[in-house]
Amino acid sequence: MNDNQKARGSFSGHVGYILAAAGSAVGLGNIWRFPYLAAKYGGGIFLLVYIILALTFGYTMMMSETALGRMTGKSPVGAFSAFGSSGLHRAGGWINAVIPMLILPYYSVIGGWVAKYLFEYVRGNTAGAASDGFFTSFITSPGQAEGWFLVFAALTLVVIVLGVENGVERVSRIMMPGLVLLSMMVAVYSMTRPGALAGVRYFFIPDLSHFSWMTVVAALGQMFYSLSIAMGILITYGSYMKKNVDIENAMHSVIFFDSGIAVLAGLMIIPAVFAFSGGDPAALQAGPSLMFITMPKVFAEMGAGKLVGLIFFLLVLFAALTSSISLAETSASTFEDELGWSRGRATAVVAVIVAVLGSLSSLGFSSLSGVQLLGMDILDFFDFLTNSVMMPIAAFAVCILVVFSVGLSRISEEVRQSSKFRFEGMYRVVVRTIAPIFVLIILLSSIASVLGVLSL
Ligand code: PHE
Repeated sequence: MNDNQKARGSFSGHVGYILAAAGSAVGLGNIWRFPYLAAKYGGGIFLLVYIILALTFGYTMMMSETALGRMTGKSPVGAFSAFGSSGLHRAGGWINAVIPMLILPYYSVIGGWVAKYLFEYVRGNTAGAASDGFFTSFITSPGQAEGWFLVFAALTLVVIVLGVENGVERVSRIMMPGLVLLSMMVAVYSMTRPGALAGVRYFFIPDLSHFSWMTVVAALGQMFYSLSIAMGILITYGSYMKKNVDIENAMHSVIFFDSGIAVLAGLMIIPAVFAFSGGDPAALQAGPSLMFITMPKVFAEMGAGKLVGLIFFLLVLFAALTSSISLAETSASTFEDELGWSRGRATAVVAVIVAVLGSLSSLGFSSLSGVQLLGMDILDFFDFLTNSVMMPIAAFAVCILVVFSVGLSRISEEVRQSSKFRFEGMYRVVVRTIAPIFVLIILLSSIASVLGVLSL
């Protein structure tokens, strides 16, 4: 167990914390995952459900995790066992701790796709990247996809080993505003293409006829993923947070920033899908490939598309790296804190996990395309397992811990050290009733939908 007496590092203050948390939150989840889910699960209605969930459920989970981390000064396993030593406490902590280890491998595969596209723009292959079949032929060639995955994974691990996160944080002060500016520019360009307005309407105007239970399941999973909830990250980050940082304010800033980038990404991609395919339902269903197929087409049409494409993929790569670093960092620190391993050993084990599981995900589109897990290819399977099955369980564990072991009054005390806790009333209702019940329903329906797939 964690008897680690060495002083824990901490973020420099309010701004330092928000930058670090936003660096973890803003990543492929916003730019790659959000738009394809919004396209697939109903556009405006998905956006509406997402925003409601983020402001209620997301807020509640973020407050709980951050307060737990700051109160205990520990990462997830330690934070859970600070309140009891039962098997359930240990299990609750470990499920939170294991999720980042399962996300990092497939996250690095997608990061590799981004690196490959950046490379194509660097060498000026704007037309090639936009051509039909380019994406598919890339991910189905095992050597290529595997090679780029390894490049991305290596970049992440080098940062962890050299401990240059501070440098990364400094660079992200420039890159993040850059990402916002460039996204706005590209979004305006996309929205003004002929036929794109239908896409803007599809994305912004909720249409109840597009609503299904899957809209809620997908939006909830996306919210966990995008805000880095239910995976121990915020507990760990909370443990580095100083007592004078206004928790509530910080959480609101992160939610606002993270959702803002997701909406911008939606505005770059969804109108473009309508402009290039006339809103063909098949195009909207493209799934994980959507960004990689649509954005190059936009760049190929733009005057300075070569340069814009290059900067775009560079910024996305950077946003992905700051997120993957936070995943790798949390995974390694769990091994250090809980198993007493050295930094080197912990990083080596994380590297092996990433190499093995990431290769499976990457080769799932080529050499291993015959392998279907519950009707999904390997990458989708890991995405589903973590987002739709494990995160609801992890979130449930956090709610139970907070309500029954820690007690809401201690959470309030922690938050009130530096915040007004203006939404305490809502927090209490959500954490006690809505969140746990809802999360269980989501979990059961995810499992049921898989069983449905199985019985087909
Ligand atoms: N939130 C990040 C994103 O949106 C992904 C991530 C998940 C990062 C989990 C850290 C932990 O891309």
